[in-house]
Amino acid sequence: MASYDAINHQQGASPYGSGDPYYHESSGYITPQKPPARGRKWIWIAVPIAIAVIVAAVVGGVVGSRNHKDSSSSSSSNAAQGSGGGEGAASSAASVKNAIGIFATATNSDYLMPVYPSTTNTAAFTTPTFNPSNNAALAWPSDSFQPSTPQPDHPLPSLIAADPYLKAWNTSIFNNATQYAALPPVVYHMDGASGILDNAREIKMRLKAFSYVYRMTNDTKWADRAWQEIQNAAGNGTTPFGPDDDKWNSMHFLDTAEFTAAFGIAYDWLHEVLTNDQKSQMISTMIKYGLSLGMNAYNGNASIGWWDTNTEGNWNCVCNGGLTLGALAILGDDTSGIAQQILGHSIDNAKQNCALAVSDDGTWAETANYWYFGTTGHAEMSAALISATGSDYGLLSVNPQFNLTGDFHMYVQGATSLFNYGDHGPNKFSTTANSIIFYGNHYKIAQYMLYQRDQHDAPEPWSMFWYDPTVAGAFWDGLPLDRFFDNGLDQWASMRSSWTDNNALYVAMKAGQLLGHQNHNDLDCGDFVLDAMGTRWAGELGSGDYLSDGYFNGDTQDAERWLYYRKRTEGQNTILINQQNQNINASPKVNHGSTGEAQGSSTVYSPPGSSTAYFVADLTSAYNSTTSLKRGIRTINGRKQVLLQDDINTQGTVMWRMHTNATVSVDQSGTSATLQIGDAKMTMQILNAPSGAQISTGPAQRFQNDPALPPNQTDQENPGAVQPAVVGDVVERL
Ligand SMILES: *[C@@H]1O[C@H](CO)[C@@H](O)[C@H](O)[C@H]1NC(C)=O
Ligand SMILES: *[C@@H]1O[C@H](CO)[C@@H](O)[C@H](O)[C@H]1NC(C)=O
Ligand SMILES: *[C@@H]1O[C@H](CO)[C@@H](O)[C@H](O)[C@H]1NC(C)=O
Ligand SMILES: *[C@@H]1O[C@H](CO)[C@@H](O)[C@H](O)[C@H]1NC(C)=O
Ligand SMILES: *[C@@H]1O[C@H](CO)[C@@H](O)[C@H](O)[C@H]1NC(C)=O
Ligand SMILES: *[C@@H]1O[C@H](CO)[C@@H](O)[C@H](O)[C@H]1NC(C)=O
Ligand SMILES: *[C@@H]1O[C@H](CO)[C@@H](O)[C@H](O)[C@H]1NC(C)=O
Ligand SMILES: *[C@@H]1O[C@H](CO)[C@@H](O)[C@H](O)[C@H]1NC(C)=O
Ligand SMILES: *[C@@H]1O[C@H](CO)[C@@H](O)[C@H](O)[C@H]1NC(C)=O
Repeated sequence: MASYDAINHQQGASPYGSGDPYYHESSGYITPQKPPARGRKWIWIAVPIAIAVIVAAVVGGVVGSRNHKDSSSSSSSNAAQGSGGGEGAASSAASVKNAIGIFATATNSDYLMPVYPSTTNTAAFTTPTFNPSNNAALAWPSDSFQPSTPQPDHPLPSLIAADPYLKAWNTSIFNNATQYAALPPVVYHMDGASGILDNAREIKMRLKAFSYVYRMTNDTKWADRAWQEIQNAAGNGTTPFGPDDDKWNSMHFLDTAEFTAAFGIAYDWLHEVLTNDQKSQMISTMIKYGLSLGMNAYNGNASIGWWDTNTEGNWNCVCNGGLTLGALAILGDDTSGIAQQILGHSIDNAKQNCALAVSDDGTWAETANYWYFGTTGHAEMSAALISATGSDYGLLSVNPQFNLTGDFHMYVQGATSLFNYGDHGPNKFSTTANSIIFYGNHYKIAQYMLYQRDQHDAPEPWSMFWYDPTVAGAFWDGLPLDRFFDNGLDQWASMRSSWTDNNALYVAMKAGQLLGHQNHNDLDCGDFVLDAMGTRWAGELGSGDYLSDGYFNGDTQDAERWLYYRKRTEGQNTILINQQNQNINASPKVNHGSTGEAQGSSTVYSPPGSSTAYFVADLTSAYNSTTSLKRGIRTINGRKQVLLQDDINTQGTVMWRMHTNATVSVDQSGTSATLQIGDAKMTMQILNAPSGAQISTGPAQRFQNDPALPPNQTDQENPGAVQPAVVGDVVERL
């Protein structure tokens, strides 16, 4: 029986804790039993072989080093030195708040991640909390979506004056509004996803900014500019805007809903300055192109309203959310009764669908990017209902674990970018991660708010209303480095070396079921991403072309979606057997563990050498011709290296695949390779495998003998992701 320890051969307890399935106390790490070699031959493509082939390939990504030239990260000039800890720290947080200002020194790093100063600030970087002594007043704006009642004097200006974040965001929104105002109204155009969703979201983004700045200045030029955009989107501007009978494109109802939301927000925030004529024009347009079609959808027109049944995903949140915002805005002025009717459907419908798209571990059912669209719709709808009526009607409580979805977002965000498995979705425009500022406020989870306030997409009007300026502390203080999400639908792991270092190591891997993600997933059990040294080494290819034939037809094994490279198993960072897709009915089992470190108050953090985390997935059910297939990933050497181990017992041809933007140089032995991105280098090594396992590189494109694409369809190019497939192509033949 072959026995090895991938790094230091040793016996005794597993260095990675109990529950480590690869470790045997007597002999360390064990590979499955391997038959004696008889006339081995290594071939690229195997004919079916009737005898079990056992492959145990271990590939260790060894993180190299480079000179740190990140001047901003060593700056501590804006960090006030505080003293004390515990309760003393909490109250002195108030006094240092203005001195320290915004924690992040920049968000314009390569990947738009916040850059934190390298420092400990014991007065400010404390446990996340809400601390009333921090600011004189916390006031929730009570006027949003209550146009029919007199507007109280808004508390926002005094809050802005007292809070560095609100002040910076206010300035950004003014700057953005000024930029948008200088542009012509948004020009109608079909985007790359069967609709005018880009138009809708860009107009919504602009109307929010114009209406906000109007409210903050009382300067009617902003209301006039908003009106120009409103006229344009109603088809009453100077350029045509869509077909007369369906300007907001009800056949792709997301578009309809986002236009309705945009008009609703502008109607509400500009209510005091709009003339009666303008109000009735907006109402007639919203009813004709939005709300009446919403009623058709609820009344069973499945071609526009399929999203109102069994749709636990962003479509349901965005559609119900947009209709709700539109209905609430005109509720006091609508004489037709349709606003009331919409609310009679939208709230319950969102409770039965949208709110359930968060599984009991917090993961969003679709993808990390679709989380943005879904939670923005859900948060807008909940916030508008609370503001207008005082109640969320259960949207925030019907799913008792909805409050965990901020953790999903924080942990799916790597050191450079998201673990962006599956489709990455359309352009975001008005869509941000600021839903977690709202959830932080509602669920009283200070960490969510502290995390998001430093992000590049924080400055926009919703943050101004959803942020609670009494929040204090540092999101990373006490935040565990790892988290495992193990609901059977998703099953994934997030592991890192730091929360505040742009050069941190981040590794995330998924298993999970392949159905039940609104056709936004890939056939990607075992897929992983790896960040280190400020860049992404193992990455995702993202969406294919949404207009490709059958792109969203993925419910059966041979459905068209699974013909496209970016969706196929070969387009993922996982094991490929016989160049075949994984089984769509896969139901992996997972096991995981961690030494459990949490970062402390300092932004400068290095985990101890003993610190580790691992995630093991039994992926046997994802493969044919395979007796067993387990993939395990762990951080080693104080989280400076990653060990990926595959234990495979199969009759098929095995290929280990990873996609990278790096330049890959394979050494002469073929068992190690150097990956280079910029001036950063990483070494990849096969540590243990049947002899003959080789690393090679190839293009990120379909195999010649893959089943044909639907007629006239093509895969997307994957430029830059040059020859990303690093392939350990291992076949053992007796
Ligand atoms: C918001 O920002 C604008 C532009 O910088 C500024 O004129 C205005 O005074 C700010 N509002 C408050 C309340 O500080
Ligand atoms: C808004 O302005 C900020 C700078 O104030 C800029 O970074 C950001 O890109 C702008 N957003 C948009 C959507 O133009
Ligand atoms: C705008 O007008 C409202 C009353 O309609 C007033 O309370 C507020 O102070 C004014 N804001 C500015 C910046 O003039
Ligand atoms: C646009 O024009 C149509 C036709 O005159 C009118 O019914 C509608 O109310 C107008 N809408 C807006 C927002 O101006
Ligand atoms: C469903 O809605 C679409 C788009 O508004 C419309 O063209 C179609 O006639 C409607 N179907 C039914 C059965 O009402
Ligand atoms: C989430 O809400 C549940 C109750 O629905 C509660 O038990 C749990 O502690 C909450 N979790 C967090 C992180 O607030
Ligand atoms: C390559 O870089 C692009 C642009 O940053 C990114 O979207 C893509 O995910 C990267 N691909 C891989 C395989 O890392
Ligand atoms: C794997 O086997 C199952 C059951 O026989 C079959 O339905 C499926 O199509 C096979 N998958 C592939 C990729 O051939
Ligand atoms: C494929 O494209 C050609 C040329 O554009 C066209 O003549 C043909 O009808 C198309 N076939 C299908 C099945 O769409």
